[in-house]
Amino acid sequence: MKRTTILIVDDDNMTRQTLSLALADDYDTMTAKNGKSALETLEKNDINLILSDLFMPGMNGIELLEELNKLPETPPVIFITGQASVETAVQAMKLGAYDYVTKPINIDRLCLLIEKTLETQKLKEENIFLKKKIKENFPDLSLIGDSPSLQKIKDLAQQVATTTATVLIEGETGTGKEMVTNIIHYNSPVAHGPFIKVNCSAFAEGILESELFGHEKGAFTGAVASKKGRFELADGGTLFLDEIGEMPASIQVKLLRFLQEKTFERVGGTKTLKVDVRIISATNKDLVEMVKEGTFREDLYYRLRVVKIEVPPLRERKEDLPLLVDNFLKKFTDRHGKQINKVTDEVMSLIKQYKWPGNIRELMNCIESSVVMARGDILDVDSIPEYLTYRANDLEMNGEEGLLPELERKTIREVLDKTAGDKVRAAKILGIGLRTLYRKIEKWGM
Ligand SMILES: Nc1ncnc2c1ncn2[C@@H]1O[C@H](COP(=O)(O)OP(=O)(O)OP(=O)(O)O)[C@@H](O)[C@H]1O
Ligand SMILES: [Mg+2]
Repeated sequence: MKRTTILIVDDDNMTRQTLSLALADDYDTMTAKNGKSALETLEKNDINLILSDLFMPGMNGIELLEELNKLPETPPVIFITGQASVETAVQAMKLGAYDYVTKPINIDRLCLLIEKTLETQKLKEENIFLKKKIKENFPDLSLIGDSPSLQKIKDLAQQVATTTATVLIEGETGTGKEMVTNIIHYNSPVAHGPFIKVNCSAFAEGILESELFGHEKGAFTGAVASKKGRFELADGGTLFLDEIGEMPASIQVKLLRFLQEKTFERVGGTKTLKVDVRIISATNKDLVEMVKEGTFREDLYYRLRVVKIEVPPLRERKEDLPLLVDNFLKKFTDRHGKQINKVTDEVMSLIKQYKWPGNIRELMNCIESSVVMARGDILDVDSIPEYLTYRANDLEMNGEEGLLPELERKTIREVLDKTAGDKVRAAKILGIGLRTLYRKIEKWGM
């Protein structure tokens, strides 16, 4: 293991040598005869702790500390001071010095202090590391945009968060439904409880039922052991049912009963279970239409939408575009180590004129790929994806049904080509459920 390196700063040659010698058993040491030379040593070497005299000609201890404070990170500093200047040492501590020792120096006590200082420093670094990790793993809770409709959504989300009411979130794909769900859960009374998400379109009917409600051993072939479902796992927290419009009728019944009585049975089970779970569901389907068609239960619909939040598509809140573009630009230039601080007016107007069928997710992907493609420090028309430059009118004249289906079909075909027909991957990339993808493929006979 690498030994700790201590930098001893003192104008007195004798002191430097004595201290070096006294610490040599336990540490590697380096020396400097004033603040300026200490800074030079620090720049070229990996120093773990600085032990410095307060009074030195040239740059004194306090001035050294002030210079250190300007650096992004510095080792901890312990000052050595005469009895007469303890006040200055205290002042140094206010400036961020770790501690001070008074002359004559007791080496045993100095070593103890050094160990304690290193230990504290280690904890501080760990703390910074953990905080960063938490931030990385914690979902982003800031909806960007200043349009009145988005402001309304933010307010509503905050307001329902204080309750445990059942919430239904409606909106097109990529509009931010999951973000709104995150905001509600993490601001709710059950924020510290479990937060379980299920995408109803990701499972076949039988599997979805056992995923949600669990099963008993032997309930079906392959059920070799009993298993808890997501409702049980979410006890005391939030269950997010994504793409609720894809939920098969048999499961809709079970969910309705849960919403009415808070009870259910595992698949193949006889025991009635009761859990305390807040339900948030989301859909990009028109559930009212589905109710009319008879594919979604009307009673369930009303139970789910105790509070309804409608997230409007991006094309209906174009005022949000400049802020969103700015934010994504910053995010992706950081991520890809680029230096781009502006998009040209031409690009901005193309962005404003485009219909954004994939909404914020598509905008985000668009900015990321543009950042990657950009050569200079400005994002211009040469770096943006080609589809942004298609004139809306040209496309509209090509298809009977207008621009959106045309683009959707084109995008799906491109993604399927890229994944060599791997539909699971394609659905992931497109951000839609597997079943939705199958339906579209069928519809267009791809
Ligand atoms: N207002 C916003 N500000 C910043 N980022 C946003 C905003 N809205 C959405 N996003 C981002 O866009 C992406 C899509 O959002 P999200 O997954 O919440 O959409 P969704 O409505 O659940 O989509 P889908 O219907 O495809 O499941 C996410 O990466 C999210 O962080
Ligand atoms: Mg979603």
